[in-house]
Amino acid sequence: MPKAVLFDLDGVIVDTAKHHYIAWRALANELGFEFTEHDNERLKGVSRMDSLNILLEVVGIELPDDKKALLAEQKNEQYVRAIKQMDTSDILPGVTDFLHALKEANIAFALGSASKNAPIILKNIGLLDAFDAIVDGNVISQAKPDPEVFLKGAKLLGVAPKDCVVFEDAQAGIDAGKNAGMYVVAVGDPEVLTGADDYIKDLSAMTLTRLEH
Ligand code: G6P
Ligand code: MG
Repeated sequence: MPKAVLFDLDGVIVDTAKHHYIAWRALANELGFEFTEHDNERLKGVSRMDSLNILLEVVGIELPDDKKALLAEQKNEQYVRAIKQMDTSDILPGVTDFLHALKEANIAFALGSASKNAPIILKNIGLLDAFDAIVDGNVISQAKPDPEVFLKGAKLLGVAPKDCVVFEDAQAGIDAGKNAGMYVVAVGDPEVLTGADDYIKDLSAMTLTRLEH
């Protein structure tokens, strides 16, 4: 049995992925471009500025840093307006039950997210105090697929990386978990996400027995 579990936030605990996409698409449209869900897949798990850089690469334009800072801020303002409306009904299927099962089994769990907005989201969905540790975009310097976010989480929980399981919905996050030397469960489509050790549609498919791997 693993000793700790590390959860990505967006797309694993809560369905914020759609709000990120809507805000990035609005920004692309304003710049005069389309931005498809297929293109958006590359932004998942990636920091805000790295996401903007990928978007600009996809639409084929280059902008100076000061303009990029303004655009990233503009995207974040739209995104924050959306997440301020979130509540417990936005928690994804299976999350609440699985967190309870982990608590009962005395398995520690932490958040490992690239988002600087993680604290507002967790507060709104009532899970701010549920985690034994929180590692988010405010405390990391290297973006996924760098393993920093998950290694920091493991360290805070006092557990060796090999005894940790990561839940991730983004390719960058799956790669970060594997780079950290952890067992990775992908939350999403095996046709889209590669390299994980196990695949589930959402956490309602997860049990302590399955976690034993
Ligand atoms: C998560 C999401 C990304 C997002 C990143 C930064 O990893 O999957 O899509 O860009 O967090 O989020 P933030 O809320 O700080 O803009
Ligand atoms: Mg995610």
